[in-house]
Amino acid sequence: MDFFNYRQSTLYAEGVPVDQIAAEYGTPCYIYSRATLERHWLAFDQALEGRRHLICYAVKANSNLAVLNLLARLGSGFDIVSQGEMRRVLEAGGRADQIVFSGVGKREDEIVAALKVGIRCFNVEVSGELDRINRLAGELGVIAPVSFRVNPDVDAKTHPYISTGLKENKFGVDIASARDEYLRAARMPHIRVVGVDCHIGSQLTETAPFLDALDKVLELVDQLAGDGIVLEHLDLGGGLGICYRNEQPPEPGEYISAVLSRLGNRNIEIMLEPGRAIVGNAGILVTRVEYLKPTENKNFAIVDAAMNDLIRPALYSAWQDIIPVIAESGGAGERVWDVVGPVCETGDFLGKERRLGLSPGDLLAVRSSGAYGFTMSSNYNSRPRVAEVMVDGDRCHLIRQREPVEMLWAGEQILP
Ligand code: LLP
Repeated sequence: MDFFNYRQSTLYAEGVPVDQIAAEYGTPCYIYSRATLERHWLAFDQALEGRRHLICYAVKANSNLAVLNLLARLGSGFDIVSQGEMRRVLEAGGRADQIVFSGVGKREDEIVAALKVGIRCFNVEVSGELDRINRLAGELGVIAPVSFRVNPDVDAKTHPYISTGLKENKFGVDIASARDEYLRAARMPHIRVVGVDCHIGSQLTETAPFLDALDKVLELVDQLAGDGIVLEHLDLGGGLGICYRNEQPPEPGEYISAVLSRLGNRNIEIMLEPGRAIVGNAGILVTRVEYLKPTENKNFAIVDAAMNDLIRPALYSAWQDIIPVIAESGGAGERVWDVVGPVCETGDFLGKERRLGLSPGDLLAVRSSGAYGFTMSSNYNSRPRVAEVMVDGDRCHLIRQREPVEMLWAGEQILP
């Protein structure tokens, strides 16, 4: 559920008409709803009430400081994959000791920075990373908390580009060799083994693959306990899907109760790293129709947002709903349009074959754009990145200004 709804025929973000926001801040712009964001985070947190747990929001989904700050205020932890994400979390008021650091290619400087601020743990994904962390922790005279991200070889049944828990994927330590890695880690002087982690993919719409992965991880947890390595936490990663079109993913509560039922009486802290399920439906991308170009074969609606602003349709053929900000009554004058941007690529589309009644100047909203929208945007075609606005009840806050055009070449130098 989200807080983008029509009143009469105008789309509102919570209590504010979307056309009013577009008039004030221009288009394209991302609009987020604070109430939706908080509702989704709380759905995860409350489902784990009464159990030791930490929700570590996956920063990559949407890393705006205002988003991170609101979640930090609720008590959220954070899953990061770079030093940049770590700095954002700290800048936004997140706690270092609630940060978990995932990612297959952690550089030395990133590990050192994370050790210095005292993060909650490293999710180690490569054997060599463990040796690197041990050495760097030794040099700093600290003990590094470590968890292994294991690859359970489970089919997440999602888009191949966002499936991560199969043997052929680059992620995690093969679960078959994980025990040896734990035994090795337990003998290292500057390592403290604290947990286990797995993340099998994104936009999962069924619980079964999560539970298959959990069963394999629990088997490892029990085996390690037999070896005298008692883990403090089990992190099941992110990946819970949202409804873009007609998917019916489980609600966070449903998914979590299935997970808890598998845990039995094991006294282990549960961690999750949801990104999309928290922020995906908490955002829309608002764009204006520049031109209509009906042709013999296709009708193109050329809008001012493009693949550089929202790449999911172009990159994954992702389907996101496109709705009018001012809904026409009756649907008269509707046609089937390909909604395309101004970028010089055939793959530059936001949606294909959408039935809409359009005139130049109309505003459209691309729904479910809160996750992997702005964070994946780029300056391709020298297009400044767009404004981001957060609505809170009947108030509106600019949380990232539209990039001034000079920012496009900031840091560049011409030869003397
Ligand atoms: N934890 C780890 C280690 C991850 O790699 C990811 C996402 C998450 C948590 C959060 O997953 P979520 O709950 O958001 O599914 N750009 C793609 C999605 C890439 C996901 C990458 N990893 C998209 O737009 O669909």
